[in-house]
Formats: sequence, C-alpha cells, structure tokens
Amino acid sequence: MLRFEKEINFIKNHFGNKDFTPLHEPCFSGNEKKYVLETIDSTFVSSVGKFVDLFEDKIKAYTGAKHAIAVVNGTSALHMSLLLAGVEQNNLVITQSLSFIATCNAISYLGAEPAFIDIDRSNLGLSVNALAEFLSEVELKDGKPFHIPTGKKIGACVPMHTFGFPLEIDKIVQLCDEFNIPVIEDAAESLGSIYKGKHTGTFGLFGTYSFNGNKTITCGGGGIIVTNDDKLGILAKHITTQAKIPHRWEYKHDYIGYNYRCPNLNAALACAQIEQLEVFISNKRETSSKYKDLFSESESIEFIIEPQYARSNYWLNAVLLKDTESRDQFLTESNDNGVMTRPVWGLLSKNKMFQNCYKKSLVISEMIESRLVNIPSSVTK
Ligand SMILES: Cc1ncc(COP(=O)(O)O)c(C=O)c1O
Repeated sequence: MLRFEKEINFIKNHFGNKDFTPLHEPCFSGNEKKYVLETIDSTFVSSVGKFVDLFEDKIKAYTGAKHAIAVVNGTSALHMSLLLAGVEQNNLVITQSLSFIATCNAISYLGAEPAFIDIDRSNLGLSVNALAEFLSEVELKDGKPFHIPTGKKIGACVPMHTFGFPLEIDKIVQLCDEFNIPVIEDAAESLGSIYKGKHTGTFGLFGTYSFNGNKTITCGGGGIIVTNDDKLGILAKHITTQAKIPHRWEYKHDYIGYNYRCPNLNAALACAQIEQLEVFISNKRETSSKYKDLFSESESIEFIIEPQYARSNYWLNAVLLKDTESRDQFLTESNDNGVMTRPVWGLLSKNKMFQNCYKKSLVISEMIESRLVNIPSSVTK
C-alpha cells in the first residue's frame, strides 16, 4: 500500500486512466491544422503574415492592453521589455527568487543584476511587505532610484504571477511608482488570470506572456509583450523586427535591432489556440475544484487555492507537503506509478550565476522550495 495511493489513483482517474499522466499536455482540437496549412499555402511562413497581426489583435482584445507585440518566446519578451524600460548595465532589478530561470536570464542579458526579495505565502508572487522593506533602503537622486546598501541604480521591478495565481500587482505598482521604478510583469504563466477585474500583465509598464509547449495555450514557441504606452508599444515592434525603417526596397536601420518577431507559422497555431482559451481555463478550473475537494480531506497535503480577489487560470496546480521528506515520498510514489509530478524550481538565488547577487530574507521562498509539488494540470480531462 502506497502512502499517497488515494491521491495518485484520483489523478489517474481524472485524466482518463492512462499509463502515463503528463504534468501539462497541450490540446490541438480546434483550427490548428487548418491555419497552419493556410500559412504554408500562403508561403508567408516567417515574420510577415496575417496571423502575426491577428495574434496581436486577439491578445489586445482578450487582455484589454492597448498594444501587443508578438515575439519568439517569453524570454525575448522580457528581454525587450527590460531594455525599453531603460534597464542598463550594473542596474539592480528587483525580483523574486522563486521563479523560472528565464526571469533572471533576461535581466542578465542587459548586464543588470537581480536583487532577490521574498514572496507572499498566499499567492506565491512578489511580497508587498518585502518590497516595502527593500524600498526603505532606496533613495531618489535627481528623480532616479538608488539602493543605498549597494549604491546601485534600480532599473526595474519584475514580479511574477506564479503558476497563474495573481499577486497583489496594484500595490506593487503603487509602491514602485513612488520611486520611479518601472514594473514589468512576468505574466508568462498567467494568461487568463484576472486580478480585481483586470487582466494580469496589464498593470505595469509592460507585461509579458509565454506560449511555450507547457503553457495554457501554446504555439510551439512564442511570446507577447503588452503595454498601454503608445510610444513604447511602437518602439517594441520596431526593435523586435531588426529596427528597419519602413521602405519598399531600402534597407536602413535606426537602432540595434533584434530578430525576435514571432513567425507567421507559430502565430497561426496561437490564433487557433486562443479560440479555445476560455474552454481550457474552464476545464482547468473544474480540475482544480476537484483537487480542492480531494485535498480538503487530507491532513498531510495542502492544496494551494487562488486568492479571494482573483481568478487564477490554475496553469499548474500545486500542493504543499508537510516537509521535504514527505514531498520526496510523494514525488517518488507518483512518478513511479505513471503520474508526472515535479518539485518547484530551485531558488534562482542558489544558481551559481546568481548566488552572489543581493538578497533579502527569503524564508517563505525557501519553505515553498522545500515542500511544493506541481501535479497534473492539462487543459483537457
Ligand atoms: C515565469 C516564466 N518566465 C519566463 C518564461 C519564459 O518563457 P519562454 O519559455 O517562452 O521563453 C517562462 C516559461 O517558460 C516562465 O514560466
């Protein structure tokens, strides 16, 4: 008899009793093949084509953002947002240690460094209190924010909506505004997650989404930058398309540009997926509601639920075990029995590239790192 037999059997049953239950499987049951074939027939498979524009229009309509710029992945979306927000070499960028590595890699591409602060136990995103404490050590010089202990300029703040749970983004933006710190929301995981009636990703100067194969909707590889700033929105499209000055035949460029535009082939897939997004989210929320019932009977496992003020897309469902030993037993028993589960990412501040970066107390992040497990969360049952 396994210690977690009941939970493992429930997950297997819920996802159709297969030999292997993946953590997050995409579903292509709509117009995916039709749109991709249409793209091939049109010969416009690269960065010019009707689906790239349509992808952006659909994201604008869905999120309510004024501008949406389609790029090759969520990491490049973060890179460009940080660049356009004015992040420079040797700046500090305030962020959370509990995130996927891409958050910090994008900061490093600009020669800036992450400054790690703790997360909130209730939503797993950047903590408002930890931010307020960090900002008590920041002063404005000529209107620019400087971190007193390190003497470094603060370039930006990047909170991340972990697993789709909206963090308290309005409070984070309000605090950062007081110090002229631009906020870039890493909303890679939270497409479809709503905070106080407004879409996550649309509160900061920029928001970024990912359409990687493991996300709620995918286009193989893709990303979107959103912003409500007209000037930056236009510039974002310009620099992600090699900064070419529009002309029928001349090749002239006015910035160091990037070849980051989302190809039409991927955008075609994205357009078909967006058509199914609300159905996928409704399926995912049904799954999480069943998980909630299941784990409410358990004394040793806590199921993490969305904060009261928010609608989560429940991208990846998550449970907290009592301690690391029981977490490891849960991981072993589930994976040995064909149910894919995984621990949360190791804290970014522990990776050798970031271990010497400035950090505050990370007690909540460390507790979550040692006890959290993600459980199967596919968009269909
Ligand atoms: C929090 C977070 N940030 C950034 C990314 C990067 O997105 P991509 O894989 O599309 O580059 C991901 C996902 O992969 C993510 O989960």
